[in-house]
Amino acid sequence: MCGIVAYVGEKDAYEVLIKGLKRLEYRGYDSAGIAMIDNPGEFLHYKCKGKVSNLEEFIGEQSKKGSIGIGHTRWATHGPANDVNAHPHVSGDGKLALIHNGIIENYDVLKKELGKRGHEFKSDTDTEVLIHLIEEVKKNEAVSLFEAVRLALNEVIGAYAIVVIDKDNPRELIAAKKSSPLVIGMGDDDFYIGSDATPIVEYTNNVVYLEDGEIAHVSLDTGLKIKQLDNQEITPSIQELQIKLEALEKGGYEHFMLKEIFEQPKTIMDCMRGRVNAQKGHVSLGGISEYKDKILAAPRIIIIACGTSWHAGLVGEYLIEDLARIPVEVEYASEFRYRNPIINENDIVLAISQSGETADTLAAIKLAKEKGATILGICNVVGSTISRETHAGSYTHAGPEVGVASTKAFTAQVTVLSLLALMLAKEKGAVEASKLNRLLFELESIPEKVEEALKTDGICRFIADIYMNASNALYLGRGSSFPVALEGALKLKEISYIHAEGYPAAEMKHGPIALIDEEMPVFVVATKGASYEKVLSNIQEVKARKGKVIVISSKGDETIREMADHYIEIPHTEDMFIPLLATIPFQLLSYHIAVMRECNVDQPRNLAKSVTVE
Ligand code: AGP
Repeated sequence: MCGIVAYVGEKDAYEVLIKGLKRLEYRGYDSAGIAMIDNPGEFLHYKCKGKVSNLEEFIGEQSKKGSIGIGHTRWATHGPANDVNAHPHVSGDGKLALIHNGIIENYDVLKKELGKRGHEFKSDTDTEVLIHLIEEVKKNEAVSLFEAVRLALNEVIGAYAIVVIDKDNPRELIAAKKSSPLVIGMGDDDFYIGSDATPIVEYTNNVVYLEDGEIAHVSLDTGLKIKQLDNQEITPSIQELQIKLEALEKGGYEHFMLKEIFEQPKTIMDCMRGRVNAQKGHVSLGGISEYKDKILAAPRIIIIACGTSWHAGLVGEYLIEDLARIPVEVEYASEFRYRNPIINENDIVLAISQSGETADTLAAIKLAKEKGATILGICNVVGSTISRETHAGSYTHAGPEVGVASTKAFTAQVTVLSLLALMLAKEKGAVEASKLNRLLFELESIPEKVEEALKTDGICRFIADIYMNASNALYLGRGSSFPVALEGALKLKEISYIHAEGYPAAEMKHGPIALIDEEMPVFVVATKGASYEKVLSNIQEVKARKGKVIVISSKGDETIREMADHYIEIPHTEDMFIPLLATIPFQLLSYHIAVMRECNVDQPRNLAKSVTVE
């Protein structure tokens, strides 16, 4: 949520900042801005509403010189998206400039205090208050900028990742973080800062992840120094980045979302690599396996997540309860954290997050930790805050997901959950050896079957063309296909702005059936398996009310071919793996509908890739 990039060194800062902002744009795209220093004592300060391309246009032929600078792409929290509220914000005396991700919760109190001392504010943002506070502390205490930032942050309540520059000192950046990520890239003779590694990876693989409550002094003269808010010095720990630059490019696809949809055979394979070997009857999740006895002895597993990750959690509930017979509860992290939940020391809390930075999921983890539960994580972003806050976990290895609508991260999360359920079932002896073996072989064949499911692209495009102007849509599924219905509806809402609801197929008659008329497309997962016959009856109920039925069915299903207005066939698989295949056409349908409606697929309105505010 909001993107930060900063640079100091010998390079042309403008190039680094603009390229970085473009890579970060998936984090927020309401407004963008940069501040650079060419001649000490003077800022080149440009910002405007809209995307990074608007900023470039706005800067046009104006000066772009300088080898130090900060850049920001915003997702509005305090104050509307406009030129004035865009970052960077500048102190009252015009000497300091600041970019900020997060929310300063006590900004109102601070603003009033500063107002009494003569500070005047131009914007509605909490960020501007923070730079005035730093200015005030620096002046009153007559200290360095590094020290002023440290002292000021001691007065701040809230979440932040910030970078500050002083126009009189073009050789240093000051950065700090609390509950919002910040990475420092260590070049040979220069430094990069990013809210994630995407603007850095092109230049260096050596990074330092700032921890909560740490402030960094990044200087071309003295190198990198880190202190905690209480003034204690910390030795920076340099880590190697795992991501590759190609993963951040579209690779010939029109959109990141489409590229990521088509990557799924590979990402699922990467996710399983070394974790399953059907021939040897082996299934294990390295990061979690040392906790398996604890999990097996646990009275329950509580899964916490948001959005698409929560849908993956619901699939996990079906899988773990069905195979390993361990009770599972799936909670929205945002509800869980505020409702005084009962958590015991023996409970296992499993947090699922693509970004590993979602504020609500992080807060829920902290709460569960305080209550003594064991916290496990399933994350995609290596080194993310959630992956570091959990006791143990498994990465999904899906590679960077840039499209705001999650696709490959979802199937990778479901793959990890399938492996977890199988591992626990095996350890517990909850399934017969022959069944376990069959499931392992089937799991190994899933990447190939996903490849086949992707061949539905043409029919999905054809169906998208018919329903692209619908105002509403209903998605139905039963069992583990119910979360697939929820995920299908979320995808459609997110990127095409069509109102869509996901429902358990049998619940339809308890209310949503009233919505059905000849205008209403109803997307149904009706694959061969446990509740097939029941879903057929639900389809009949829709047909009887003249609804249009689009069915995801098993290959060669003649009954569905006759019954449905349109059908999309996917390969046969075991019930438990249906979500991995049935979700693919839903992703493609949403994608094509959004493209046909000329929506911004990769950066849908009002959304941001990782939600680092509450
Ligand atoms: C999915 O398409 C969304 N954009 C969103 O619901 C997302 O899944 C949610 O914000 C959780 O993010 P996380 O997985 O990074 O924690």
